[in-house]
Amino acid sequence: MTFEQERARLVTELVAAGSLGDDWRRAAFEQVPRHEFIPGTVWQVSEAAGGRLLAMRRDTDPDTWSKLAYRNEPVHTQVDDGNPPAEGGWEVTSSTSAPSVVAKMLHALDVEPGMRALEIGAGTGWNAALLSWRVGAENVVTVEIDPTLAALARDALDRAGFDTVTVVTGDGMLGHSAGAPYDRVIATVGVREVPYAWVAQTAAGGRLVVPLYNSYHQPGLLTLTAHGDGTATGRLSWPLEFMGTRADRVPRVAPASIVGEPEVIGETDLHPRLWGSGRDAAMAIGQRLGDGVRLQWQKGAAPGQGAVWLFDPASRSWASVEVGEEPPYRVRQGGPRRLFDEVADAYRWWHEAGEPVVTDWTVTVGPGGQRMALPG
Ligand SMILES: C[S@@+](CC[C@H](N)C(=O)[O-])C[C@H]1O[C@@H](n2cnc3c(N)ncnc32)[C@H](O)[C@@H]1O
Repeated sequence: MTFEQERARLVTELVAAGSLGDDWRRAAFEQVPRHEFIPGTVWQVSEAAGGRLLAMRRDTDPDTWSKLAYRNEPVHTQVDDGNPPAEGGWEVTSSTSAPSVVAKMLHALDVEPGMRALEIGAGTGWNAALLSWRVGAENVVTVEIDPTLAALARDALDRAGFDTVTVVTGDGMLGHSAGAPYDRVIATVGVREVPYAWVAQTAAGGRLVVPLYNSYHQPGLLTLTAHGDGTATGRLSWPLEFMGTRADRVPRVAPASIVGEPEVIGETDLHPRLWGSGRDAAMAIGQRLGDGVRLQWQKGAAPGQGAVWLFDPASRSWASVEVGEEPPYRVRQGGPRRLFDEVADAYRWWHEAGEPVVTDWTVTVGPGGQRMALPG
């Protein structure tokens, strides 16, 4: 299949799945060539290499590369900040997101021709190109922290005819005041807290669409309206997972590097599914813990068995809960923080608060920072 045919097939798939409607996005997806934005080397998880990310090259494997360009999946374009070990990388540090996610975020952005738009996290430049298709390339500013990626995005945007997009190399947490005010701000990188600078740079009535990031559990997509008085308010909607900004992300942990002899051994009746996988509980617990705690599931030999690990790399604290058929479950904890006790307390707090759902929370961002509150 040619790239054009692959693209048409992807659009049909996205329309059938309800990710793309019959609005401007459909034409933009049909016309903006995603493959022009994907670099010649991309990265794929290899189970055979123990979960490492291995390079896949367009010049040596053109068929696989071409298929990846038009699949409804993210394409990983950088690992380990561009410096992976020879035997493969561990952490995806840039990717072009799954087309369905991009389509839905652009829908949430509710963007009209001629609007000024700021994107944080240029990555490959593909989303900036789609935005440009709608508002005009001269109205789009996109910020990328990694100079190599920013240069690649610049080249790809030029090649695809969006040469008047402003690509800024810098820390997107500061926004880009020289291009303000913006009618729309979209982050394509997760943030723990929406920076006040983004609100300050948004016109009154303008909209911000931001994936909230939390190392314990990703809260989902946040849509805020700027009020023109230095504040913006909004709510969370559908779940999604994004990499955190360079400053926010919490590194993957090799358990052996932190886990030692347990200092406390106990048991609990709280199955990890209560506090580790239900979105409403896990989001509330993540907010109460603050950022930095990472949760990792480990499969056991039999279905329903395994362990759940909690890590705080900064304080070198850890906990594990061994899952079996029936409670109680064995809990082991080590390091200065008692991570399981903190999680269990947060879970009980959420339960006693009436088990609020993710969409109950109101998020306010102002000069004093971000606040999340429940009604009442
Ligand atoms: C998921 S990718 C963005 C995908 C992109 N919009 C596209 O269409 O390909 C996230 C990007 O955010 C960048 N990033 C991380 N922290 C950042 C920061 N503080 N400021 C600007 N960009 C940042 C990463 O380098 C990465 O390229």
